[in-house]
Amino acid sequence: MNTVPLLQMRDVGITVGARGNRRTLVRDVDLTVEPGETVGLVGESGSGKSMLVKSAMRLLPRHVEVSGRIDFEGRSVLGFSRRELAAHRCRDVAIVHQDPRAHTNPLRTIGDFLVEGAVAGKLLGPREARQRACELMASIGITDPEHRLAQYPHQLSGGLLQRMMIVAALLPSPKLVFADEPTTALDVTVQSEVMAILQEQIRERKLGLLFISHDLDLAAAVTDSLAVMYAGTIVERGTTAEVYSRPLHPYTAGLLACRPSATVVTRPQPIPGQPVLAYEVGSGCPFAARCSFAIEKCRKDRPRLRTVEDRLVACHRAEQIGAELPQGVHS
Ligand SMILES: Nc1ncnc2c1ncn2[C@@H]1O[C@H](COP(=O)(O)OP(=O)(O)OP(=O)(O)O)[C@@H](O)[C@H]1O
Ligand SMILES: [Mg+2]
Repeated sequence: MNTVPLLQMRDVGITVGARGNRRTLVRDVDLTVEPGETVGLVGESGSGKSMLVKSAMRLLPRHVEVSGRIDFEGRSVLGFSRRELAAHRCRDVAIVHQDPRAHTNPLRTIGDFLVEGAVAGKLLGPREARQRACELMASIGITDPEHRLAQYPHQLSGGLLQRMMIVAALLPSPKLVFADEPTTALDVTVQSEVMAILQEQIRERKLGLLFISHDLDLAAAVTDSLAVMYAGTIVERGTTAEVYSRPLHPYTAGLLACRPSATVVTRPQPIPGQPVLAYEVGSGCPFAARCSFAIEKCRKDRPRLRTVEDRLVACHRAEQIGAELPQGVHS
């Protein structure tokens, strides 16, 4: 099958700061989301996940420079005119943020919030948009939708407000949804409800999903493929089943080893040391200082993503250490 990818990022770099003092936040990122595919982007705090998503929607402020190629259905997002960009954000893509309260206006009702995107994009009239919003709310189990439309964000619980964010994202019928840690601010039971709704809606509508999380287990549960990010770059990419059950990069294995198991009583093994930011990395592998497998070459030469077995790995020693690494325990 020869389909055009929904999202294709090639060699994407993100830098900030004044000329002569620019700092790299993201480097050399290649990432693809095919139509109907769900992709997980996983990494520790500060690894550049949100910056990458914002770059794909061109939501970054002016002082942040984005290089490389970002294509949506074969068209260059970085080359879009203002009008094309507005249409792209209204029709093609949608985002569900981590903190819904930070992305709603406390002075405007839920109804205003829900319909304005669809109306601004000239996709639906106001009455039609309200009706569709009510239908969508009902379909994800929100009772009394008409009443909800008249409420303000502070009158809704965190879980309910995040469900409204999902409604807002789906209302214009986008092709690709970016979900940036959509459940991190919620407690565990509400988190699983919201995840179930998001997953069901994405599957039913056959949408593409880029799911961002620091939680590898959660990302593995909802995605077809995984990209693991460290210090602003992707260090391992492959199908979820392969990456999760048999990591080939020491960082991915470290993420799996440091989480508690629901079935086996073992002490979680934290990854030694501290995460580094992209601009703090020298010429070697960004993970070398925390990696028990590192050799001299790792400290000197930065490994590029390359094909190893069934996936892409940025590690000089992937072949040798793949067999030795602790394997993912599905629990
Ligand atoms: N507008 C900005 N200007 C300059 N630096 C920024 C900006 N936004 C984020 N950064 C920096 O970019 C780096 C990556 O941030 P980003 O928010 O993408 O991380 P993240 O992987 O999403 O982390 P988290 O899991 O905490 O959300 C961080 O060091 C952050 O301080
Ligand atoms: Mg983030």
